[in-house]
Amino acid sequence: MTPKPPETEASFVDWFRSAAPYIHAFRGKTFVIAFGGDAMLRSDFVDLIHDVNLLNALGVRLVLVHGVRPQVEERLSGEAQYVRGRRVTDGETLEHVKDAVGSVRVDIESLLSIGLPNTPMAGAEIRVASGNFVTARPMGVLDGVDLQFTGEVRKVAADAINARLADGEIVLLSPLGYSPTGEVFNLTLEEVATEAAIALKAEKLLFLLDHGDTVDEKGRRLNQLTVAEAQKVIKRLPEGDMALYLPYAAKACKAGVQRAHLVSADVDGALLMELFTHEGVGTLVTALPVETLRPATIDDVGGVLQLIEPLEEAGVLVRRSRELLEQEIEQFFVDDLDGRIVGCAALYPFAGERAGEMACLAVHPDFRDSGRGEALFKAVEAAAKAAKLKRLFVLTTRTAHWFIERGFSPATPDDLPAARKELYNWQRRSKVFVKAI
Ligand SMILES: CC(C)(COP(=O)(O)OP(=O)(O)OC[C@H]1O[C@@H](n2cnc3c(N)ncnc32)[C@H](O)[C@@H]1OP(=O)(O)O)[C@@H](O)C(=O)NCCC(=O)NCCS
Repeated sequence: MTPKPPETEASFVDWFRSAAPYIHAFRGKTFVIAFGGDAMLRSDFVDLIHDVNLLNALGVRLVLVHGVRPQVEERLSGEAQYVRGRRVTDGETLEHVKDAVGSVRVDIESLLSIGLPNTPMAGAEIRVASGNFVTARPMGVLDGVDLQFTGEVRKVAADAINARLADGEIVLLSPLGYSPTGEVFNLTLEEVATEAAIALKAEKLLFLLDHGDTVDEKGRRLNQLTVAEAQKVIKRLPEGDMALYLPYAAKACKAGVQRAHLVSADVDGALLMELFTHEGVGTLVTALPVETLRPATIDDVGGVLQLIEPLEEAGVLVRRSRELLEQEIEQFFVDDLDGRIVGCAALYPFAGERAGEMACLAVHPDFRDSGRGEALFKAVEAAAKAAKLKRLFVLTTRTAHWFIERGFSPATPDDLPAARKELYNWQRRSKVFVKAI
């Protein structure tokens, strides 16, 4: 269970510690955050800016994409004409769009410039880069209607954006695109954000929903979806922000963006809760399920240590130093849940005696009893079989029955491979179990 936001100092400490894996994982990564023009009309918009500031301070490379729908509506007189959900942008409307984009941009820049000592922005010196990063082309004629200055994204200048991000700047994109013929086109923020995330190979694309929650057609929370699941859900969704953004989230993930998130602007701190807690508060879309069981790499040493240290302190696992773990990490498998190591197990082969030891099997207490331990054991067993080993053994003080229930039989230290027997710790008096594989 992820600790709730802090109410006491102790829970603050717990909560802050639990954010550490995410802080490590996010540093230097690119996030594209998209929000509609309605977001800026909200009284709590400044809180979103504070969260943006925090992410920036943590070293996340940020691209913000804003919309201007209500700001344009406000400036327009008369009915707008729509074709298949896209507004026809005539010359007059385009002037209003340009006007609205300019004013919204200045507002966002000014909010990001705050550095007053008594605000969460104290000490922040954020530089915002905006400009002609998006090339557009006209949509042309749809159903016999010329959409005029309504356009679609042709290209996003990823290199130029990356150069600004590398300088520590936040890039701000508007729903306007420029064409090589010198014209300006009215785009949608969702398309700009999606194409930018794809072009930048962003780790995350986040859409902030101005209206409604991240729920399905029956009002049930949608916590996590694969692209395939999202495509099914989309067909049933009623009109609204969820129906508007979810197809773009799915498109981005299909095109290589690792994760797309949808969060409701109505939830205070939604952005941070979605990013820094395991359960999140919105909808996460991924191309594949987010949990993977895989061989460990040197980058997993920190995560494995965090997982096993409490068990070492409790005497359940034998103590391993960081140095030893670094040497042995390639013998480990890890259960990686959205970037966090929640389980591990190691296989130490004694090839001469066609035997292997399964060691350091551990699952984080919050994630037990869901078959993860079993899956790790299966991975070790499969690796042992692939290495043509015939026997798998374990040494345990407290988990005997778990192994018996999985086909292990009691054995003695004399049954261990000679090299392992020499290392047997007689004081610890671990029980030995063996399984023919
Ligand atoms: C043993 C451990 C890895 C199991 O992880 P897990 O993800 O909960 O495992 P699974 O979900 O596959 O199995 C859960 C089942 O094992 C049972 N179980 C858990 N610990 C047990 C133990 N010490 N003895 C006997 N059974 C145990 C659970 O009650 C549950 O049974 P159920 O399905 O009938 O309810 C985990 O409890 C752990 O990390 N323990 C501490 C470290 C440890 O003891 N490692 C082994 C030493 S080498």
